[in-house]
Amino acid sequence: MAVLSETISTGHFVGGAAVEKFEDEFAGFCGTSHCVGLGSGTDALRFALMATIPPGSIVITVPNTFIATTEAISQSGAIPYFVDVDERTLNMSPAALSAFLSMECYVDSRHGNHTIHTISGRTVSAIVPVHLYGQTADMDALQALADEYHILVIEDACQAHGAGYFSNKKNKWCKAGSMSIAAAFSFYPGKNLGALGDGGALTTNDPAIAARVRLLREHGSSKKYYHPIEGYNGRLDALQAGFLSEKLPYLQSANSSRRQCAEYYDQSLANIPGLTTPFEPKCFHGNYHLYVIKAERRNELQRHLTEQGIGTGLHYPLPLHLQEAYKRLNYRPNDYPIAEAAAGKILSLPMFPSLTLQQQDLVVDSIKEFYGAHSGTGFDGLEKPQPIALA
Ligand SMILES: Cc1ncc(COP(=O)(O)O)c(C=O)c1O
Repeated sequence: MAVLSETISTGHFVGGAAVEKFEDEFAGFCGTSHCVGLGSGTDALRFALMATIPPGSIVITVPNTFIATTEAISQSGAIPYFVDVDERTLNMSPAALSAFLSMECYVDSRHGNHTIHTISGRTVSAIVPVHLYGQTADMDALQALADEYHILVIEDACQAHGAGYFSNKKNKWCKAGSMSIAAAFSFYPGKNLGALGDGGALTTNDPAIAARVRLLREHGSSKKYYHPIEGYNGRLDALQAGFLSEKLPYLQSANSSRRQCAEYYDQSLANIPGLTTPFEPKCFHGNYHLYVIKAERRNELQRHLTEQGIGTGLHYPLPLHLQEAYKRLNYRPNDYPIAEAAAGKILSLPMFPSLTLQQQDLVVDSIKEFYGAHSGTGFDGLEKPQPIALA
C-alpha cells in the first residue's frame, strides 16, 4: 500500500526513481553491472536478440520451452532452430548442440569466422539456453561450444531468479542471468519473483547492450520526441518496480523454502516404480520454480490427482517444433525424441514456498495410492535410470 500511495502522490507512473532503484537492486542480486526493467520476459528476450544479432540469422534453442522463447527469436528477425535436451535435466544438451554444430554447420574462416548452417546458408548467431523449471543449463559446456563456433549466448532465465551454477571455468558459483552476454527474466505473477502484473528485465555486463535495450524499450528515444531508431513500448512501470523492490529481499528465503519442499518430495517419492523425481546435478542449485516429475501413465495419474483436488500442470504438453505456429519450419515427429518423450511423461506437482508438509503428504499419498492401486500392472519391473555424467 505504501508503494501504491507513493506512486500516486509522486505521479511517476512510468520510469523514474522506483524503476532505477529496482534495476540497481536486481543487478546487484544477479551479480551483473546492468539491469534494464522491461514490460515482460518476452520483451527482454526480444530486445536482447535485437541488440546483439543480425536479422535473418539462426538462433538455437530447445523445443521444450514456453513459446515466448521462440516468439522472441522470430520477432527479432531471426529463425528459431532447435537442438534436443539432456534426458535427465531436460535442459539444452551440450552433446546435441555439439553434434549440430559439427555435422550440420561449418566455420567460414574467410569471412570473419562465422558459423554457417550448411543447408540454409544462414549464419548461426546465438544460442538461447532456457533454465527450465529454475534449474540452469550446463553453462560451462555450452559457453565452450559457443566460443569455439563464435556464437553468442543469451540466457532465458525467465524461470530462474536466484538459481545457481558452479562454473568450473570461473571456479565460483554464478547466478542465473550473469553467465552470458545478456539474460532475460520474467516477473509474471507466478514466477519466483513475481510482480502484481506483467514485468520483465534484462541483465548484462555490457553497457552497450544495456544502452541499446533502454532505447528499444522507449520508442527508440533517450531524449523526448527525438528518435534515432524505431523502438517499442517495452517499459517496466513504476508501480510494478516498487512492488518488486518490496519482494526482492524475500526471494532468497522463498527459494530456500521451495528447495526444502523439493527435498521432501525427492525423499518421499523415491523408489516408486514408474516415477522419476527431478535430477539436480551436483554443481547446480535450482530455485524449484516448478517441481516436475516424470511419470508412467501420466494422464491417468494427473486425472487421479485432480479427483483428489490436487492441482498439477504440464510444462509443456506439446514441444514447440510440433506446434501449428511452426508448421513453416517443416519439423516432424521424432526430430527431437528426448523432448518429445518427456512431453508425454512430465507432471508439475504443487510447489510454492508456503507449501506445508501436510499438503505434500497428501500429494505423495495420492501418488502412492495411484501406483499402489495399479501394482502388478507391469511397472514393478521398471527401474530408475542410473545417474549419468552430464556431457
Ligand atoms: C521459459 C520462459 N521464457 C519466456 C517467458 C516469457 O515471459 P513473460 O510472460 O514475462 O513475457 C516465460 C514466461 O512464462 C518463460 O517461462
